[in-house]
Amino acid sequence: MKDGLSLEQAVIKIAPRLDGSYAFLATSVDDPGKIIGTRRNNPLVIGIDDADYYASSDALAFATYTNQVISLEDNEVAALEAGSVEFLDAEGNKLAKQARTLDQSWAKSDKEGYQYFMLKEIMEQAQVLGRTLHQDAKAFTDIALDILRARQVIITACGSSRYAALVGRYLFSRVGKRFCDVVMASEFGYFADSVDKNTVVIAVSQSGETADVVEGVKAARDAGAQVISIINRPNSILADLSHQVIYLNCGPEIAVAATKSFLSQLAIFYLLSFSMVNGFDEAAAKLTELSTTITGVLDWNKSEMIRLSQELKGKHDFYYIARGINFAIASEGALKLKEISYIHAEGMPAGELKHGTLALIEPGTPVVVICPADYTFAETINNAMEAKARGAYMIAVSDRASDIYDSWIRIPEVDELLYPLVAVVPLHLLAYYAAISRGCDPDKPRNLAKSVTVK
Ligand code: AGP
Repeated sequence: MKDGLSLEQAVIKIAPRLDGSYAFLATSVDDPGKIIGTRRNNPLVIGIDDADYYASSDALAFATYTNQVISLEDNEVAALEAGSVEFLDAEGNKLAKQARTLDQSWAKSDKEGYQYFMLKEIMEQAQVLGRTLHQDAKAFTDIALDILRARQVIITACGSSRYAALVGRYLFSRVGKRFCDVVMASEFGYFADSVDKNTVVIAVSQSGETADVVEGVKAARDAGAQVISIINRPNSILADLSHQVIYLNCGPEIAVAATKSFLSQLAIFYLLSFSMVNGFDEAAAKLTELSTTITGVLDWNKSEMIRLSQELKGKHDFYYIARGINFAIASEGALKLKEISYIHAEGMPAGELKHGTLALIEPGTPVVVICPADYTFAETINNAMEAKARGAYMIAVSDRASDIYDSWIRIPEVDELLYPLVAVVPLHLLAYYAAISRGCDPDKPRNLAKSVTVK
């Protein structure tokens, strides 16, 4: 600007010299009354309401004021002034950009009487499942065929989305007889050498903005892979990068902790795996029946979750164990507990316990075992007994009784592949009440963000 450039010209000149990914807004006392924004690999959206303008990384931030949204592409610039907004390309040429209308469900996000968004989102899971199941059966069958035909299939995701993917991996194997790998998105780049045009990469991300996932998908595309994404939020960076997108349709998830989006991701993996054997309708029917069951699970367990969280609020370590398709639910339960209540928690395959972690079990150490009456029950309960023998306080998520439980989180008997959906719901509730009992805000855990747009 010392050379006489306007603020927007200065931003256009400086931005290409910046390393990494960013979205920023600039103001200057030397060119007052303007806000100039630009982005690279991070989201930046402009909201427009008559003569009022908003800028944010996420349209949800201004959704109560306007539902008219313009997304910036990489290196584009927005120049906001009182009463006007202008868009420029990286050379400073004017751009005509069209606003899109934010879906009504995304424009409205209030707690509807609940104390926290997280509880609201846990409680609305049964309805959400119904919305997620509204999918195009033909599109699912086509995607399932692509997955079956590929030389290799890699699923990439972070956090809870990765745990949903791990359940998906078991389903692909058991139902579709299709082995696939799940690679943590932050590690994906280290496997990029083996990705080629005969690879299908499935990216799972509620936000569609997680930087590690976005970067992995770019690398996969560059290598010629087919990219299929499973996303909740509309108009995300990930959607733009993907050849096919499956939407969760579970509406805005405001709490940092993923709950309803996790359940929806599981539902999508059921639909996909059953589509591999021409069973989309069968899976959709089974999942539809499950909606009422999920409400029942919440009703049955609410008071026990409140009691348990009070009793155990002083504990420092929790271990979550399970086998097979339920293993990822152990990891998800542990992640949710540590994320919002700040209690250390680990999830692991029950068979791994004796390879190290058993040394940490002391009298009174809480161990959550997910042991429904399915093909994993007998071996999982044996592992639970090993922990019990060392004094563990045994919390069981099961439909089958046992003398070794100190606390029994009851779930109904369902088809054996459906247990992850009913087992995870009370574990989300347990984490929520644990946070409340320790005076933590479950919607805004310290140090964490809903969309992790940095690497
Ligand atoms: C889940 O409760 C966490 N907040 C976190 O692990 C999350 O699942 C992860 O950051 C991935 O987010 P994404 O699904 O938006 O990519």
